[in-house]
Amino acid sequence: MMTEEAEDSSSPRRFTNASSPFVSSDNNNMIVDMVALQALASQKPTPLRLADMYKYAVETSNFGQRLRNAQFLYKEIPIRMAQRAMDLLTLPHGLNEVTAIRNVAGLYLRYLEWFQHIPMPSTVEEEDAFTDMLERIILDRTSVPSMIARGIQSWQRESDDKEMSEDQWHEMEDGLYRFFTARVGLRFLTEHHILSSPSRQAQAQHMIEGKEDFLGCIMTDCDPVHEVKKVVEEVTQKTLQQYGVSPKIEVLDSTSADQKNAAFTYVPHHLQYMVAELLKNSCRATVMRYQSSTEIPPIKVVVVKGAEDVSIKIADQGGGAPRSTMEKIWNFAHSTKSEDAISEQVSESSARGFGLPLARIYARYFGGELTLRSMEGYGVDAYLYLPRLGHACENLPASVVASPGEQDSNVVADMKKLVGDRPIVVSRAPQSDEAEAEAAVKDEPPQEVPCCTGALDLMQRKQAF
Ligand SMILES: Nc1ncnc2c1ncn2[C@@H]1O[C@H](COP(=O)(O)OP(=O)(O)OP(=O)(O)O)[C@@H](O)[C@H]1O
Ligand SMILES: [Mg+2]
Repeated sequence: MMTEEAEDSSSPRRFTNASSPFVSSDNNNMIVDMVALQALASQKPTPLRLADMYKYAVETSNFGQRLRNAQFLYKEIPIRMAQRAMDLLTLPHGLNEVTAIRNVAGLYLRYLEWFQHIPMPSTVEEEDAFTDMLERIILDRTSVPSMIARGIQSWQRESDDKEMSEDQWHEMEDGLYRFFTARVGLRFLTEHHILSSPSRQAQAQHMIEGKEDFLGCIMTDCDPVHEVKKVVEEVTQKTLQQYGVSPKIEVLDSTSADQKNAAFTYVPHHLQYMVAELLKNSCRATVMRYQSSTEIPPIKVVVVKGAEDVSIKIADQGGGAPRSTMEKIWNFAHSTKSEDAISEQVSESSARGFGLPLARIYARYFGGELTLRSMEGYGVDAYLYLPRLGHACENLPASVVASPGEQDSNVVADMKKLVGDRPIVVSRAPQSDEAEAEAAVKDEPPQEVPCCTGALDLMQRKQAF
């Protein structure tokens, strides 16, 4: 893949503008040829190792290598985008029919259409135009997690009296899990290429305190304690703003002397996102429990670099949650929507319940894990494990790596039943009843929406996260 010689742009492409025009226009609509879309979505994506991605980015001072990376992405990203659109268009039990979900699928199809209008990069100028297009995609302020959350909410409202079996719930959760896992990968590949471009890299270096071991989105020598402390500051501020008080958050570095200087290759904005979601939950639970007390117990964070993993433990005394709640916390569709007065005030309008499932997807993406242990009546301990060496591959779900085309014929048949072979029409503009909600989503501050603010956003908005 990225190590191959730069391809001649006249050589046959798996994804070409001329030979597979699966998106065409009709006024404000996109007519999508489902057979062509399925053909693209059934190609196999290439999982990548974190350490390799760093290496390829290092070599981008050599334009030949950067071009090979761009050509690889020119093929890889459309496959992954087509799969994301298919994931959404084949969500079971009518979720695929919900307007907000179709609008998100439409978003990926619009991006695919952009790819149709740009050649495979073969010169400096073409590579630059390609990177600009990727940047436009990443900086699109539409919040996909928020739109999906709203889609699930409206689907739940409409199917109130529809009894679903446990298996059917699982099927839907699997679809959403697959979608979000793969989306993390898609965004990461795209951001990494943008930020590895020599000009943007210079800008990024400036932004992140002159750290030289930062390449693209990846840091070879990420300091987990430093990253955690940045998040602690940010979450403390937000908690103060929202509730008027905040528990003290203590950070303890427990790394032994022999591991102190060991390198930790990671993606700081992923780490920040996961820690922020856990701390927000801990702060909220603690403030809720001690709202009428004069003293609030601290939240304790322990960070330790081991030979294999960096582990982060976040322990609060916020009262924990009953086991019946803990069974549902990783689900997307089972919203645990606020039972408490303060949460109602602060997040009345925004969909809730994506924080933990998304954080676990980020942890698993490069082979890590996130677990929570609750003692009802006392508090929660959250454990985050992140592999230290960066050898882990992108953790694409098996069904994504295998791709729809390689799944057994029943799955493909099911997909056909759901989507059919006939072209589908997707509105170019969000449909009117959703337009307002979507505009509101675009304007929402990212902190209210459980989605990972990318490294590129950091550069643009000059914020900690
Ligand atoms: N530290 C904690 N203490 C007590 N309950 C917790 C804690 N962390 C999570 N929970 C429970 O798990 C649920 C799910 O958490 P999650 O972060 O996924 O969603 P949320 O916080 O409700 O919404 P958001 O999408 O804004 O994060 C919470 O609503 C809460 O009931
Ligand atoms: Mg949360």
